[in-house]
Amino acid sequence: MPISDKKIYDLYIAARGSAALAVGVKLGLFDALRTPLKADALAERFSLHPRGMNAILKSLSAADVLIFEQDSQTYALTEEAQVYLLKDSDLDISGLIEMEFHHFLTPEKLLAAAQHNAPSIYDNAGSDVWEQHQKDPAQAQRFTRAMHAISAKPAEVLAQQSFWNDIGKVLDVGAGSGALSIAALKEHSHLHSGLMDLSEICEIARLYVHKAGVEERCEFHSLNMFQDPFPQGYDAVLFSQILHDWNPKQGRLLLSKALKTLPSGGRILIHEKLTEPSRNHGPLANALVNLDMLVWTEGQQYSVELFSEMFKDLGIEDFEVIPTVGYWSCVVAYKS
Ligand SMILES: C[S@@+](CC[C@H](N)C(=O)[O-])C[C@H]1O[C@@H](n2cnc3c(N)ncnc32)[C@H](O)[C@@H]1O
Repeated sequence: MPISDKKIYDLYIAARGSAALAVGVKLGLFDALRTPLKADALAERFSLHPRGMNAILKSLSAADVLIFEQDSQTYALTEEAQVYLLKDSDLDISGLIEMEFHHFLTPEKLLAAAQHNAPSIYDNAGSDVWEQHQKDPAQAQRFTRAMHAISAKPAEVLAQQSFWNDIGKVLDVGAGSGALSIAALKEHSHLHSGLMDLSEICEIARLYVHKAGVEERCEFHSLNMFQDPFPQGYDAVLFSQILHDWNPKQGRLLLSKALKTLPSGGRILIHEKLTEPSRNHGPLANALVNLDMLVWTEGQQYSVELFSEMFKDLGIEDFEVIPTVGYWSCVVAYKS
């Protein structure tokens, strides 16, 4: 086989697809396409030049997000677009995609974060994103909505795991919107959850929990997970996309606080997108999320190897890795 530039070129060109998708979300294109429409009708509806509308539609149909019907010359939604891109769908991820308009990971931001080893995504370079969210409610809401979009689908699948049958009360550390707790509470009527996050985010989570109708089995802990002791009375502690926000030393501290609060036999549930050194640090999507961690946080995507070293330091001997859906896994560690 002759050597080809395809892999390098495909990686280079991928950001255009991301831009087209973000414009589609921003316009409300996918909701408009509940009924198949022609490009000219869409251009008129969104006050775009037909040339631009056509270019965007063609890229989205080549990416299999839209279907182009040759006979009628109309564009329609694929099944995936119907599930993930319609605003009234429970699994809508448009909140995540729309973030591209506000905080796009540019080469400049990536380089700055790598040079200074500090988050660069918000304009005041080096600022702690969590502090920013405390000061700016609009940013906090946007971020929490995006996190909910990332988490809703894997949360549903995590909720189907059999280990929940043995858990009565879970502490959801850095709960965000509460997506993980909501899915688990919906699936398991015996379960109770404590949602722990910074105070402003807890207020946002209350709205999501109320909308899901599970507030009777929820309590909220407005706490700083580093500065405050973890609340007592839980038999599992869930960290979903929390350890990846922090470095291994900070991660060890969080895990040791979880161990302190848990009874013997209690579980630590770590829900993350893992990278695998033996697969060239892939899968690619998870290695790319690692770049997000660089520009947003002090953390990184973890591997099982790194977790296992941390567990060893903390005296955790028993753990298992459960691949759940897509790029997601849950590491279940047991307190001896
Ligand atoms: C990446 S989000 C994960 C949200 C949720 N667990 C999920 O998977 O969808 C990280 C969460 O940690 C919270 N957080 C950050 N620093 C915190 C702290 N010091 N104490 C408590 N929560 C914190 C953030 O507010 C945010 O909701």
